[in-house]
This record gives sequence, C-alpha cells and structure tokens, in this order.
Amino acid sequence: MCGIVGFIGKRACTDVLIDALKRLEYRGYDSAGIAIFEDDKIKTVKAKGKIKEGLVEKLKSEPIFTAVCGIGHTRWATHGEPSDVNSHPIGNGRVSIVHNGIIENYREIKSFLIGKGYGFESETDTETVAKLLDYYYEGDPIEAIEKAVGVIQGAYALGIIFREHKNKIFAVRKDSPLIVGKGKGESFIASDITAIIEYTREYYCLERGEIATLDENGIHFTDLHGEAIEKELFTADWDVESAQKGGYEHFMLKEIHEQPDAVRNTISPRIKDGLPDFGECGLTAEKLRAYKHIFIVGCGSAMHSGMVGKYLIEDLARTPVIVDIASEFRYRNPLVSDGDLVVIVSQSGETADTLEALKLSKAKGADTLAVVNVVGSSIAREADMVIYTNAGPEISVCSTKAYAVQVAFMYLLAFEVAYARGRIDEARCKELVNGLTEVPEKIQECLNDLSIYQYVASKIFNADSLLYIGRGLDNALSMEGSLKLKEISYIHSESYAAGELKHGTISLIEDGTPVIAVMTQSSLFEKMLSNVRTVKSRGAKVVAICRAAENLDADCADYKVGLPEADDLFLPLISTVAMQLIAYYTAVQRGCDVDKPRNLAKSVTVE
Ligand code: AGP
Ligand code: GLU
Repeated sequence: MCGIVGFIGKRACTDVLIDALKRLEYRGYDSAGIAIFEDDKIKTVKAKGKIKEGLVEKLKSEPIFTAVCGIGHTRWATHGEPSDVNSHPIGNGRVSIVHNGIIENYREIKSFLIGKGYGFESETDTETVAKLLDYYYEGDPIEAIEKAVGVIQGAYALGIIFREHKNKIFAVRKDSPLIVGKGKGESFIASDITAIIEYTREYYCLERGEIATLDENGIHFTDLHGEAIEKELFTADWDVESAQKGGYEHFMLKEIHEQPDAVRNTISPRIKDGLPDFGECGLTAEKLRAYKHIFIVGCGSAMHSGMVGKYLIEDLARTPVIVDIASEFRYRNPLVSDGDLVVIVSQSGETADTLEALKLSKAKGADTLAVVNVVGSSIAREADMVIYTNAGPEISVCSTKAYAVQVAFMYLLAFEVAYARGRIDEARCKELVNGLTEVPEKIQECLNDLSIYQYVASKIFNADSLLYIGRGLDNALSMEGSLKLKEISYIHSESYAAGELKHGTISLIEDGTPVIAVMTQSSLFEKMLSNVRTVKSRGAKVVAICRAAENLDADCADYKVGLPEADDLFLPLISTVAMQLIAYYTAVQRGCDVDKPRNLAKSVTVE
C-alpha cells in the first residue's frame, strides 16, 4: 500500500509533492515525508500521523524551500510502528528512497550490510534497500539500482534520489504499482494517476525490469542492462473534478451518489442490440459455451461481488461457479485447468493476492478475465481479457461505486452465459438486459431522500455488535453490507444466511441487538418473516430492508427502509445503496474518519 510521488520541474516542488501526497493519502496514512534537493544536499522532512497534522505542521517551521525536485511518501506500515524514524523517505544523506511494498529478504540483507559496517536506525525493511543502494553505488545510479534489484526479493515500487545526481529521480518496481507522469516541462512518479491528475493526464506504466530516469530533459526508460526502451504513453480519461470531493462531506458520500452514472457507464458499452456483448475483450459466446468451470476470485468487496455473480450465473445459466478469496485460492492448489474461465475482480487492479491468483490461473492454463476499474493497472495488463468497469476514481477506502459496478457486470455476465448456453432465449435475455438498464434510475430514487438512513443510523450507532441476515441473493448482498459497516464504523458485525442463524449464531442476540434483515426476494419473503420474528422475540431490534410497498407488522420490524418497486432479480443491487448509506451515517454519527478508516488502506499491494 502507501503512496509514492516524485516531481522534477521548474517550480518549487514542495507544494506539488504535498498536494499529490494528500491525494494519495487514502493508500496509507501512518506517516508522511518528503526528500528534496536543497543546495548540494538532500533535505528530508517527515512526521508520524496524517499529512495535515504531521508533515504539513512540521514544514511550517522550516525555511521556505525553493527546490524543484524531490520525492514523497505516505506510509501504511508493514515493518516497524508508525513513527518519525520509520517514516519514508529513508536514506543516509547520499541516497534517499521511498518504498511501497515488502522486502522479504530484508533480514539477510541487513546482516550482510551490518557485516560491511552499516548501521540501521529504523525498524523498516525499506532501510535495507536504501543502504544496499548506497553499498553498490560507485558513481553510476543505474548500475547501483541494477545490482540492488538483483538482490532484493519481494514487492516494491521505489523512488530513488542520489545526492551526487542533483534533480534526478530514478524509479523501479516489481509487483507494487508505479506510474510515470509526463507533464509540460515537468515529470512525475506516482502510485496512481489520481495523485497527479491536476498536473497531467499522460502517463507511462512502469513494468518489472524497467528503470525510469526523470530529469530536466524529460523521462528515459532503460532495461536492467542499461539499454534504452520505448514505452506506450497512456492518457487518463478522469478529470480533476472526478478526483475531488465536489462539495460532499466525504468521498464515500460522493461516490455513493455517483452510482447511477457509474452503473450506466459499466453496462451501456457492453450492450449491443439489446443483448450483452463482450466482443471488446474477446469473450465470445463460443468461449462461454465451452468453458468447463467458471471461477470468480477477488478480495473483500470484489470477492463479494463474485458471490452475487455466483447466485446469478448458477440460477440463470445453470452453470456451477466457484467463488474464492484470492489469498486462499493462491495457496490451496485450486482445481483450475485448461478450459476453465477465471474471472479476476479488482477495483485497483493492484491487489497483491488477486494479482498472484491471476498469474496462478494463467499458469494452470485457464483463460483469465479481469474485471478492473483502474486502466492500465497490473491485473488489467496481465489478464488475457479485460473489462474496465468505468466507475471513475474511487478514493474512499471503503468501496461503494466500484462494488456496485462489479455487481452490475456480474448481471450482464450471467445473462450472457445463460444465453450462450441456451438456458434463456433471445427475448428473455433482452428483457433481462432491459431490466438492468432501469437499475440506475432506481438507485437514484434511493438517493433522493437520505433521511431514513440517517434515522436508522441514529438507532444503531451505539451498538457493540450487529447482524445482517438475508436469503438467496440478499445473503450475498448482506456480506457486503456487513463489511461496509464494520470497516468504517468499527461496530462488530456479521452477515449470516438467515436460515443458518439458529445453528449457533442466534445466541449472540440479546435485548436491543440490531439485526438488519434484507428481504427483497418475494419467493423467500415468508421464510425471512419467520427468521425475523424469531430474532425479534429474542430481543433483537430489527431494521428491515424491503420493498416500500411491503406491510410489516410492529412485531416484525422496528424500522423499515423502503426500496422502489423492481423485479426480484434487481432489487438486491438497488438495496446495496441502502446498506452503504446506513454504514456511512452510522460512521459519521460515531465520529469516525469515514474515508480513511483505521488500519486500512485502499490498495492492498502486500500479502
Ligand atoms: C472494501 O470496502 C474494501 N476496502 C476492500 O475490501 C477492497 O474491496 C479489497 O481490498 C479489494 O480491493 P481491490 O478491488 O482494489 O482489489
Ligand atoms: N514496508 C515498508 C514499511 O513498512 C513500506 C510500507 C508501505 O508500502 O507503505 O515502511
């Protein structure tokens, strides 16, 4: 995780670095720091805590910097507690680096360097790389980087400066993301494009085995043998506004409100003549007919979208789907082989476990389809086929619109698999696609009046523990509702299949325990009513999420969140918004840092 930036231009770099770091803070916020060229030295300022309270405060007592080149970092600690000394940039005055990732063999490198007389100040794995670069440096930075990269193992994106090479930045990466931005007379490195979108939309994706050199003449790329290489320049289609809060109190609230458009942007390019069409990535009906098994793999919310996909595909296409958590999948020798389709879901396209699951699937001979939001990300580049979800930048650590569009894609995929396999005819497929195109309006309806979510939040925000229950598709959706709530409000919460509650978990219910019952499925409604009555008679305070038209007795639900009328199949996707907003307002009422929940980071590029 963590955010890396670097800037070389003609203007003072400190403001640019701080500004870019603030945009990257969602990736990590334990500490932040910058290192810049001042006169003939490298000057480093770093501080524990968030950028505004730590680094920016510290910089106020420093003389005004005029440097035009520097690197910066906002940290998500993996080795060593968040502290000033463990903050990046890390170095010894001759070399200074910012690092994203984990150096797995740092202990060996450390003892080797101690043997060579080096001392260590921090507890980080990163310091071993800084000192190793110093050890190999004999005047040629590229040579030192090549040698160091040959030794270090693990995941890294590194921004490097050498005192003797004033106003030059070097960058290299393996498994952790890093882009190189090309501005007008200025250049950048950054963990993602949102950090520098105010300055440029043009960028290169640095690949493993490539070294970028940025100086006043521009950007040069070399391979690890020092040979120059040409690279493709990408243009981000996101603008500055979409990477800012736009008047909303939090990014999460803004991103929740962007969902109607986000869903439209995901589905409409994939509908042709009223039918799903994935021709853009080569996922043809013939292929979908032939696959032996379908796997869906991801982490967190992305995996939850796969759970919805499983229910939909199995129901409509009568094809078994295996959903797995990427960190489990990659280590359990999964039964994936030639002739299978593995759908890899990720907002960032950089999640380490998901990326490895993708590589493993490819190695086992499966076809891989990446469902990814960030264009040009590692997962997108690695997969055989890519569907971009077009949700725009998602800044809040808590995923909302990125999840909704992943789910929207699962619907289209299910329709296409069902149609390709002859389980539904063309007319039915068109009818389903048409139903999906109406979902954005229904989501908008849920967003028109927010008072019910605020009210429900006021009733549950003091709870210590809470349960989500649902059946069928509602069960799949509830997993996400529960994750939202615990992630940002820190209230312990679990999602349970309503019918399974009586086999143990119901013992958690005591007087006043909130239970959020998701009840959108007509065929399961009566069953849900019985489950709700059962928890209610044991003291639970029940919040029912169901159609607005549904009449619920007081012995059933204490509070009702009404949803607009829609087909059973689509209501769960619509109810997602209600669950997100309940979580959001609960976190707000508890005074939590909604966009940057504790212990978390947006892009999980470590195992
Ligand atoms: C959701 O709110 C999370 N912050 C988290 O579960 C996230 O979905 C997960 O880390 C996967 O990220 P990705 O989609 O970028 O791969
Ligand atoms: N492993 C490094 C550290 O703990 C980098 C962590 C990060 O990616 O922020 O400092």
